[in-house]
Amino acid sequence: MTESAQEVMTSSWSSAVIDGIMYPPYVTRETLERMKNYETREDDVWIVTYPKAGTHWIREIVSLIYVDGEVEAIDRNEYCRPLEFGDMLIDKQPRPSSYPSSQSFKSPRTLVTHIPEDLLPRQIKEGKGKVVYVIRNPKDSAVSNWFFLKDRRKEYAVKWDTYIQDVLEGKASYGPWYKHVKQYWERHRTDKNFIFVHYEDFKKDHRNGVIKLAEFIGHPLSDEAIDKVVKHSSLEGMSRTHHTAVSNTNGSSVGLPKKVGAPKIIRKGVVGDWKNYFTVSQSELLDSISRKELDGTGINVTYE
Ligand code: A3P
Repeated sequence: MTESAQEVMTSSWSSAVIDGIMYPPYVTRETLERMKNYETREDDVWIVTYPKAGTHWIREIVSLIYVDGEVEAIDRNEYCRPLEFGDMLIDKQPRPSSYPSSQSFKSPRTLVTHIPEDLLPRQIKEGKGKVVYVIRNPKDSAVSNWFFLKDRRKEYAVKWDTYIQDVLEGKASYGPWYKHVKQYWERHRTDKNFIFVHYEDFKKDHRNGVIKLAEFIGHPLSDEAIDKVVKHSSLEGMSRTHHTAVSNTNGSSVGLPKKVGAPKIIRKGVVGDWKNYFTVSQSELLDSISRKELDGTGINVTYE
């Protein structure tokens, strides 16, 4: 690999730099603008995250809660990619025709987005629809994203050092982690239709996380149903069910091309993998940025 991450990003992502923020190449200004006016529903549950925070995990938990843990009852046809991808092209090919429009999903919908707070649908900000905002520590998120990008596209097969340098300089997809998390937190932490959850808390107490989410979305569960939700949303459970859903449909019904499907979404699924990649100085630099950005905000970040 001779190109630096910066060159790679600048050259292949330039078409998706919108208002100074870098997005995956298939995000357009038009789809971002459309997000602001997206028609929400009272019973929507939006999983909102900075990428690699455990979006698919929390989404699977919410989907499982609605079906009382009966995993086969989840309608995988109504399983969309982040909404800002819009009526997207995948690798410059038209989206699979069976990729459904989220507006035709039946209620209650479980929707996903990574958009910065400025672009969140106005109706959500007015209280129509619920939001689960998932926070994962920025070091593990960065490692996870690096694996995701480098496996996904040849041009991202950059060295860790060059990739993390860009992240430390705030040149990451969807903008800097801090800005994303802080804007949501500062603007919505007291809103009744928002809940902020931590990936690390779910790792520590999966069952309690499920109970909390079930309460938030207004679908309390029996003990037996909680057990089923926990079982099917475990790493092992999801490796079977999530993966099968994608493989069975060749990815099309879940809007995922097979090559970027479930196997890439579930990797290690642990807290603290960052220690295997960050050098001491990279870690210290990120810690000092964290102190500057997070001190006094009340946002707690757990690294192990
Ligand atoms: P790692 O790459 O650190 O393993 P997202 O869904 O936002 O893209 O996040 C992907 C991350 O969530 C990956 O992290 C993945 O392994 C982890 N993940 C997915 N399913 C999980 C599960 N059931 N339990 C714990 N982590 C999970």
